[in-house]
Amino acid sequence: MTLDEIRSKYLEFFKARGHAVVPSASLVPENDPTTLFTGSGMQPLVPYLLGKNHPAGNRLADSQKCFRSMDIEEVGDNRHTTFFEMLGNWSLGDYFKKEQLAWCLEFLTKEVGMPKERLWVTCFEGDEALRLPRDIESAAIWKNLGIPEERIHFYGAKKNWWSRSGEPAHMPAGEPGGPDTEVFYEFAKVTHNPAFGPECHPNCDCGRFLEIGNSVFMQYIKNTDGSFGLLPKQNVDFGGGLERIAAAAKNSPDVFSVAYGPIISYLEEKSGKKYLEVSPLDIRAFRIIADHMKAAVFLMADGVNPGNSERGYFVRRLIRRSVLFADKLGIGENAFAHIVGAVAKMYENQYPEVLALADKIAGIIEEEETRFRATLARGLKEFGRFAADGKLTAHDAFQLFTTYGFPLELIVEEAAQMGIKQVDVGGFKELLKKHQELSRAGATQKFKGGLADHSEKTTRLHTAHHLLLKALQMVLGPEVHQRGSNITGERLRIDFSYGQKMTEEQKREVERLVNEKISEDLPVVRTEMPKEEAERLGAEHEFGAKYPEQVSIYSVGPLENAFSIEFCGGPHVAHTGEIAEAGTFKIIKEEAVAQGIRRIKAIVE
Ligand code: ALA
Repeated sequence: MTLDEIRSKYLEFFKARGHAVVPSASLVPENDPTTLFTGSGMQPLVPYLLGKNHPAGNRLADSQKCFRSMDIEEVGDNRHTTFFEMLGNWSLGDYFKKEQLAWCLEFLTKEVGMPKERLWVTCFEGDEALRLPRDIESAAIWKNLGIPEERIHFYGAKKNWWSRSGEPAHMPAGEPGGPDTEVFYEFAKVTHNPAFGPECHPNCDCGRFLEIGNSVFMQYIKNTDGSFGLLPKQNVDFGGGLERIAAAAKNSPDVFSVAYGPIISYLEEKSGKKYLEVSPLDIRAFRIIADHMKAAVFLMADGVNPGNSERGYFVRRLIRRSVLFADKLGIGENAFAHIVGAVAKMYENQYPEVLALADKIAGIIEEEETRFRATLARGLKEFGRFAADGKLTAHDAFQLFTTYGFPLELIVEEAAQMGIKQVDVGGFKELLKKHQELSRAGATQKFKGGLADHSEKTTRLHTAHHLLLKALQMVLGPEVHQRGSNITGERLRIDFSYGQKMTEEQKREVERLVNEKISEDLPVVRTEMPKEEAERLGAEHEFGAKYPEQVSIYSVGPLENAFSIEFCGGPHVAHTGEIAEAGTFKIIKEEAVAQGIRRIKAIVE
């Protein structure tokens, strides 16, 4: 079965069971500072999992594009990829464990045709200290559905608890999460490899099992005191890896053979080498290029171009690594960018926008390749200098990695060719680990725009932010637009286009207007509509931001008679009067941040 076939079967299956099929959101999350990229299907749905009503109802299904940036270095085995599609279905306080697990199994066995005997499941074993119960209910349901006890395994929170931040201890206050139950496919003919541990089990990494789907029971929210409370609704959040399901359906442990066919064929044609008939290092190169190029193309189609910005740097790394590995496979210069066509063609039905942008994307990749080759030439000189004494220290290797973009395997290979006998690989790996830990912390903690969290305080300030933008336009003129925003529980910050310092009178008038709208207790209304319609309504959007075809907008006041309308994913208070619970709106600072851009910091106190 092809990816297209499985995707449409899945969406049809859930449509027939009362689900509204929603489009994939962008890989660049809207108003979600917790991650740089959309890495799971639930991310765009967080406000609804927290209790807000979704306009399409309380049963949803989709296939969401996902990018997991942390996995870049892991790509190379037969199943890890940075980009994938996640099939998702959600119950927002509607059905729960019984229906979910029955449908999940029915889809995999009846629609996709997997033999039930090949399916194993895992459940949450509970956590006494956190008062989170063992999920005996899911285990009993699986058993009833015909999964025998020996194929039902229990694990702790590291494996069977899901939230955007991982296990319960890592969740910030206000974050939703819950126990999950995962389905694994057991490959026929793959036996346990004892190098991965004495005993095999579903979460063993030996390759016998592949996780193909995860049903999360989003019931909990982390409280500020570290305990867990129940969410207003008991939700289901299911995510299934489309490519992995396709591989399991063919009983092929190699995701690349199944879900990257046209890209692999292109690489075979250009390199004159046959995937899986070459050395393990070359097989790895095939996989790395196939994964990285698919990811880079989709990220670029969503507006992220290679560069040094936080997101752009990931695309740059994906392209640079692909260039190096394309060289290894013997693919000539500038032939490589045309792989974009193969990616776009694979997805022309589901994501026609990729095909429409393919030439432009290929052009940018070609430019990036040229620029990288110049850096690389400088790097090779540096390499020679480092290696003059026949040794390459961990720091030298790490500098080649960070400054010149050489991955470790290439450093090792190049060193042999340069006659270097000693490369401190262990030391390099230590440095890399530290570097990854730092960037991981950075990616989750640092945020430049959007909301710091979804707490009550931050949410109130977010609505005040909408009121402020409109008040600024009324006082300073309609040419004022937002250029950036950053909201925490303590204060809000807005950057906006305006050429002069504001006078005291202007500031007082803006404050007065915002406080007036707060005291009017206006409803804050969310509506979904096509992007064009929102633009016609004059909805405000941030300069340079890219939006999907179907957008969510928030109006303060009813849509027909709104005080303000903005493109926005929320969350917001239901009525502006809720802001007054925290006090009065005050501007605490107004200053210039760049030519023609002013910044206001404001509080409600
Ligand atoms: N949100 C769950 C996951 O990403 C389904 O695994």
